Amino acid sequence: MKKVYIETYGCQMNVADTEIVFSILAKAGYGRTEDIAQADVILANTCSVRDNAEQRIWGRIEQFNFHRKTRPGVVTGILGCMAERLKEALLESGKVDIVAGPDAYRSLPRLLAAATQGHPQIDVLLSREETYGDIAPVRVDKNGVSAFISIMRGCNNVCSYCVVPYTRGAERSRDWKTIVREACNCAADGYREITLLGQNVDSYRYEEIDFARLLALVAEAVPGLRVRFSTSNPQDISDAVLETMASHDNICRHIHLPVQSGSDRMLEKMRRRYTREGYLERVAKIRALMPDCAISTDVIAGFCSETEEDHRDTLSLFEAVGFDSAFMFQYSERPGTLAAKKYPDDVPPAVKTRRLEEIIALQNRLSLESNRRDVGKTFRVLVEGPSKRNPAELCGRNSQNKMCVWPDTEHRPGDLVDVVVCDCTQATLLCNLA
Ligand code: SAH
Ligand code: SF4
Ligand code: F3S
Repeated sequence: MKKVYIETYGCQMNVADTEIVFSILAKAGYGRTEDIAQADVILANTCSVRDNAEQRIWGRIEQFNFHRKTRPGVVTGILGCMAERLKEALLESGKVDIVAGPDAYRSLPRLLAAATQGHPQIDVLLSREETYGDIAPVRVDKNGVSAFISIMRGCNNVCSYCVVPYTRGAERSRDWKTIVREACNCAADGYREITLLGQNVDSYRYEEIDFARLLALVAEAVPGLRVRFSTSNPQDISDAVLETMASHDNICRHIHLPVQSGSDRMLEKMRRRYTREGYLERVAKIRALMPDCAISTDVIAGFCSETEEDHRDTLSLFEAVGFDSAFMFQYSERPGTLAAKKYPDDVPPAVKTRRLEEIIALQNRLSLESNRRDVGKTFRVLVEGPSKRNPAELCGRNSQNKMCVWPDTEHRPGDLVDVVVCDCTQATLLCNLA
């Protein structure tokens, strides 16, 4: 049996896609390996969202090519967003045998068969229908506690800085019946938590089912499981979604709500369809309905023409919201996007770096303050496994998605445990069994 090795980069959707790819290849008779030296097929499922993500993958392509050159019969391939963005250019590098975009995974067995005969293969057609809705993913998560379920693909938003609509194509929602069935299968397989995934989950719609309805259907189908979702767009997250969260105990109290900038001028140039005020209104609504709900965000420092004043607007918005955590990036121009065509990438690299560092320093303080407010509280956490630092400690997340660690030698991954927070760092709640 030929063995496949896959490295996955980028967002959670790519993790879910890798599980689809393993499933398609298993049906075609391929086995799986986590050891690249044992693999007959070496694949990378890639990300194009920032230039440094792509640079890292070029480094891996060199490594893959080493295996390809030194072990006869080894075939290498690039999947995912970078395959879709660079297309033939990847094959022309002469270092890979297969290039397959995010909607081409059903073709992989055919592409692999031909590539094994020495003919390089490419399929980067995007689809308006493909959701892989009928494919049961082969879960790659090792501890068997938490599973991802894709509920939609693509994106129709065309934020001016973002490459995703070009690499993933038009937005399409997966049949809700297959989503509910997959959630039930996760429960039957012993999973304790599922995360519903899409670039913009709040615009989910299939037949008469919108995201609020889907969330309720899933939460009620698997009452013993925790339900999470990501990503929410500030202009689309509806009161109905918030009310559904508030009325279901098993939907986790955490919303990832990327803001990107605190300046209205930047938000407009980014083609985000909300204002600073609109964003703060959504935050207020979330907190009014669910005072214990954590809010995390994404932000971009140094977007085209960003001034010190725009940057200070971002800092003041962070302060005003008091995010529990954030993913923070410097703007990276992506070829082909609206911003690349219309606006010069004119904030000097040193200024981008300094602004990013200021945002990170502020968020570090906000994360610590958020964690300090939890000292003394009791949380139910889902055990993931031993903590990284200390084998006598377990780690797991609370409903708010905060990482907790506590001394424990009794419980197992998948158990729900009550812990009391005794102390904290900016990244972790340090706890004891309650
Ligand atoms: N669909 C999600 C985001 C997906 S991309 C949403 O709309 O919120 C994840 C994050 O990468 C974005 O939220 C943004 O903060 C960041 N990002 C996207 N394009 C970028 C670029 N060109 N440069 C820097 N960061 C970028
Ligand atoms: Fe990119 Fe905007 Fe779509 Fe998110 S919503 S994937 S940032 S275009
Ligand atoms: Fe990257 Fe594609 Fe996800 S560009 S962030 S892997 S959708």
